[in-house]
Amino acid sequence: MQALIHENNGLDGVVAGATVLSHVDGEAGTLILRGHFLEEIAGRIGFEGIAALLWADLDDSAGDRDAVAGLFGQARVAAFALVPGLLQVTQGLTPIEALRAGLGMLPDEGKLPAHVRACGALQVFLPALLRRAEGKAPVAPDPLLGAAADLLRCLRGQPASASHVRALDTYLTTIADHGFNASTFAARVVASTQAGMISALIAGLCALKGPLHGGAPGPVLDMLDEIGTEARIARWVEEAIRAGDRLMGFGHRVYKVRDPRADVLKSVVRDLGSHAGRLAFAGAVEQAVIATLRRLKPGRRLDTNVEFYTALMLEAVGIPREAFTPLFAVGRSVGWSAHVMEQQRHGRLVRPLSRYIGPTPKAAA
Ligand code: ACO
Repeated sequence: MQALIHENNGLDGVVAGATVLSHVDGEAGTLILRGHFLEEIAGRIGFEGIAALLWADLDDSAGDRDAVAGLFGQARVAAFALVPGLLQVTQGLTPIEALRAGLGMLPDEGKLPAHVRACGALQVFLPALLRRAEGKAPVAPDPLLGAAADLLRCLRGQPASASHVRALDTYLTTIADHGFNASTFAARVVASTQAGMISALIAGLCALKGPLHGGAPGPVLDMLDEIGTEARIARWVEEAIRAGDRLMGFGHRVYKVRDPRADVLKSVVRDLGSHAGRLAFAGAVEQAVIATLRRLKPGRRLDTNVEFYTALMLEAVGIPREAFTPLFAVGRSVGWSAHVMEQQRHGRLVRPLSRYIGPTPKAAA
């Protein structure tokens, strides 16, 4: 098995295809979304706006931001009819496991396009599942609200403040797409077999679930809680890295400098104003982790990734930890579906080769 360790099993640096949707420049620390730097559009065009941008030319039904908002509203209302069945069949499952089942309940064909139905369904299923965990009945969606505002309203049973809506909307926009990351690539592989949109999105969701990809922000807060006080930071971090632990919210396969999404989300937390103490503590942990990684793992170029400030931002808005990864899926669903449509239109069956390093059959030896 030694030879396997030397193979490029993570496909580092491999260009697996072309896309017009997004570009991650890991050396410059920039993210381009269809011709716009993330910082130009985050907090400006809104979640429906980024969906319209990503879906443009790929989806005949979408159109502009308002048109997408209307479609999402219709999709949420349609999906709400499935909520009783979803709650029944997902007893005892975590929210991300239940969302996997929820996407599986959607038929391939329907009145609205499959990607619109799926994105809208995630926006409705998640708050219903989270309310179930608190013993509360689901709240019906309001098709006239934006996705972020309606998700928070359905979660809390009352309208959210404008600042919380803006924060969640910026989060969903910031994480909407990110090149050929693991979940997007998984979705594209399934799309390449012509299995259909819903199957491809389920694949994306399953890949996102893992702690090395979308499952990191909950553990980021667990880490901050475990460290507890400023006085403990240096020792805790040193011991964890020496023990070989992976500190959640740090490191990235492509970014070799700071992830630009981390800065966007950090400023969202700062603007909320209510989380100043936690933000200062997290900043001290971040500095200690970066400095200790530089010292103990020289040359690895490990920096802060999106998940570190995602965790703080979602905590500041009062989102429960078990909702962090499924909420990531709500945002990323528009990117996945854009990639699936691009793959369906322009791609071919994805079928790489492998290099055989097993034993040679006796007859041929
Ligand atoms: N903490 C401590 N050490 C780390 C970390 C980390 N977060 N990340 C990588 N390293 C170390 C590894 O232990 C390894 O050290 P070694 O060479 O001494 O064995 C070295 O850096 C290289 O690690 P790889 O596993 O080869 O790096 P890879 O590119 O595969 O990892 C990944 C990328 C999975 C994101 C990794 O950095 C990690 O596990 N981070 C923590 C989880 C996390 O935050 N995930 C969210 C990523 S963002 C997203 O997907 C939305």
